[in-house]
Amino acid sequence: MEEKIITPENAQPEKKKKILSCIQPSGIPTLGNYLGALKNWKLLSDEFDSAFAVADLHAITVRQDPKKLRQQITEVFALLLAIGLDPEKSIIFIQSQVPAHAQLAWILNCYTQFGEMARMTQFKDKSQSHADNVNVGLFSYPVLMAADILLYQADLVPVGADQKQHLEIARDIASRFNGIYGKTFTIPDPYIGKQGARVMSLHDPTKKMSKSDPNPKSFISVFDEPNTIMKKIRSAVTDSEGGVYYGEGKEGINNLMGIYSCCTGLTMEQIEKDFAGKGYGDFKNAVGEAVVEELRPVRERYNMLMKDQAYLMDMAAKGAETASRIADRTLHKAMKKCGFIVK
Ligand code: AMP
Ligand code: TRP
Repeated sequence: MEEKIITPENAQPEKKKKILSCIQPSGIPTLGNYLGALKNWKLLSDEFDSAFAVADLHAITVRQDPKKLRQQITEVFALLLAIGLDPEKSIIFIQSQVPAHAQLAWILNCYTQFGEMARMTQFKDKSQSHADNVNVGLFSYPVLMAADILLYQADLVPVGADQKQHLEIARDIASRFNGIYGKTFTIPDPYIGKQGARVMSLHDPTKKMSKSDPNPKSFISVFDEPNTIMKKIRSAVTDSEGGVYYGEGKEGINNLMGIYSCCTGLTMEQIEKDFAGKGYGDFKNAVGEAVVEELRPVRERYNMLMKDQAYLMDMAAKGAETASRIADRTLHKAMKKCGFIVK
């Protein structure tokens, strides 16, 4: 075969890969969610064809207060815009406004085995922590997540390590369906962010920073005001040694160095050099200021967006319309393959 010579004139720009990720509207995200997930979404949205959603259907697997849920859906949607995701470049939407998610989830339920779901570690954990409400939605939650991903034919799914098992199930379900009916869904790969972006509790640096921690001083919320951030960082647990360097038994300082590195782009070595001979007081002030500056534009944009609910709901409706167009195409394809009569 004749070798094809690629020149700038005939070069096909390589097709951009597609990514999709979702965040549950379960409380205000923390600095951990921001540095570990959301900040990466913004970077990834520059590189890939991207879709991001507020996974509100997932949220009702545990009991929610309707008024609070409605508020949190709006807040998290506003946050997606506030972190700099651009609705012109990415599809940004609210899951429940795109009916295809629930529809495909039902179909995929019928191609998922009971045993597969029963071994999901998150289901096992959550059925213990919510023992009074072990509902079928909680059980089949990974199937809904598979529907989210497969509808958009996503190549890559940025998730935290805790979601990796759910992504593997999405791959299994997609391969099974493709195996029966021919290629219908793209098999997605996980996209796990840098290890360095794991942010630990300020109160107990051996635990992950989490918004569900009963001690509010243990986490920084993305909407905390500058003086609150400074106070929380100043009261972060450290050690009695007094030197700013990375090491064993220095989990508190390691965590603050990790946060500082994520916010400033400095390496651990550079941070150690910059703070050689300085005390924890100086270092904590620097970390606090870096976090304040990192979150300032997010908080300011968020506050502005929340003042204009009509604009927010309009952006959500537009996002849902675009998402539906893509999602319906996949849904109809899958429905036809199963034998349904698609209108
Ligand atoms: P969660 O709020 O626990 O449901 O987490 C949603 C996503 O945010 C996870 O899948 C992680 O990618 C990220 N995340 C949450 N907490 C942290 C943390 N402390 N450090 C880094 N990333 C986090
Ligand atoms: N289950 C994810 C979480 O709790 C959120 C989620 C729902 C998601 N659907 C998704 C993440 C699809 C990635 C892709 O964090």
